[in-house]
Amino acid sequence: MGLILSLAGRLAGRSALMTRLAGRLVARELRHLKGKPVERQLLVYDLPETQLALANDLRVVDTLLSDRAGTFPKAAALERLLRPLVGGGVFGQPGGDAVKQARRIFLRALVRIPEQRVTGVARELTRAYLADWQRQGQPVAIPSELSRLTIDIVSEASLGGRFSAAEGKRFVELFFAYHQRANPVLLLLGGQAPATQQALVERMGLAAIGAEMRALIRQRFLVPLLEDRPLAERAPFAAALLEAAAMGRGVEVSLAQDEARQTAMLDEIAVMLLAGHETTASVLSWLLWELADAPQEQDTAARLIAAASLGEGQNGDADASQQQAAVDGGKAAARQLAALTQEALRLYPPIAFLLRETTAAVSFRERPICAGGFVVVSPWTLQRHRALWSAPDRFDPGRWLAAEPPPAMAERLAMIPFGYGPRVCPGKRFAEVEMQAILSELLGSCHIARGRGRAPNPLGTLTSRPDYDFRLQVTPRGPG
Ligand code: HEM
Repeated sequence: MGLILSLAGRLAGRSALMTRLAGRLVARELRHLKGKPVERQLLVYDLPETQLALANDLRVVDTLLSDRAGTFPKAAALERLLRPLVGGGVFGQPGGDAVKQARRIFLRALVRIPEQRVTGVARELTRAYLADWQRQGQPVAIPSELSRLTIDIVSEASLGGRFSAAEGKRFVELFFAYHQRANPVLLLLGGQAPATQQALVERMGLAAIGAEMRALIRQRFLVPLLEDRPLAERAPFAAALLEAAAMGRGVEVSLAQDEARQTAMLDEIAVMLLAGHETTASVLSWLLWELADAPQEQDTAARLIAAASLGEGQNGDADASQQQAAVDGGKAAARQLAALTQEALRLYPPIAFLLRETTAAVSFRERPICAGGFVVVSPWTLQRHRALWSAPDRFDPGRWLAAEPPPAMAERLAMIPFGYGPRVCPGKRFAEVEMQAILSELLGSCHIARGRGRAPNPLGTLTSRPDYDFRLQVTPRGPG
């Protein structure tokens, strides 16, 4: 790993081509984390100008993400990498009061979206996608189709609108291209100097992709919002953002004339669309890949979903024991689906690396790390760590269905797919509700199987999404 990092460090920034080559080298190296967890409690690499540490020691993890989170803000490199896409949106911001304020606005807007709305929208759109897949009668390109579906769900539930099919396809293509190029490790190799990092971002060619994506978001979501005040019940997130944008001025301002505020709204809408779709699409893609090779898991889920939906269809004449049976059926199906998503989140956390930087010199496990160094907490390595999990690389949803939770869960930081501390994911509940609804429709009515084609690898750049658009057979389940 050290050798590859130093080779990539020498190539990165020389030209656009060399930068892309360096990105490929690093990504390939990171893929080897699959099945071979980097298990040392603390790994420190000396980079050309600084240091990079990976912490698996749970006390160190706590210090970094929670206890002393103020000393270890999100790395500014991440902000530079995401800026062409999300501008000054909350996700990329290192820390401080501005982030607290942005998170408050984001959370206030998010809690306006009722869970029933997320479930209703997710179920309806999943049924529409399934019908479309059946009409086409071809193996389904799972990662890109799930990306389109989850963008539609997040935008419909929060903004009351969707991309057209052509725009959705283009958006997904662009985002995949962005992912392939945006490699945080390359920025770390370049050191902390803002000008060097900026030059590297330019060599990655992210500006043009980001600009086209932002133009699509502006056209489809921001412009209609500015023209038409959104209904709070159809577009709860957008309505809350508009309120926040108008607040603090004492007068109702015309957003149409206020470019700075429009840009701030565009930034947060971009964060909502990107953080809110890619993560769930990636987890579900990996889950379907695993399930396609586990027909018994699919059958069990389908049976429980069918029993639960019989209960849902009960009329008012049902007696107490029938009503109880319906409630129990619903709970059993929900528990089964939660076990599937938990196991996929454990094995394939979409944000595999949480990147922080040191604002002062520190020492962890008696190893000094310089100020301006980088520290990484990796949900990927923690959630596959042999000291914490039994059979860590095996896809085994049953571990979440036993009477007792897995022993690793005695450690609260052994499973952190949504992060931890003041920057923890605000969309956790949204994601859980959405994933349950999608799976319930999909596994309740269809059977999935692998065809030909190699196993996907995690991309290993911004997220751990599959590195190619693998296809699965999705066929309707017969009755019974
Ligand atoms: C399976 C689904 C998801 C996973 C695994 C996930 C994971 C994460 C993680 C690990 C972080 C923290 C990154 C860090 O500390 O460096 C994060 C941040 C964030 N997530 Fe999620 N996320 C998911 C879905 C969502 C959804 C559905 C939304 C919105 C509806 C969302 C919105 C955000 C936002 C806005 C942030 C940035 C918060 C901040 O910077 O303070 N996420 N997510």
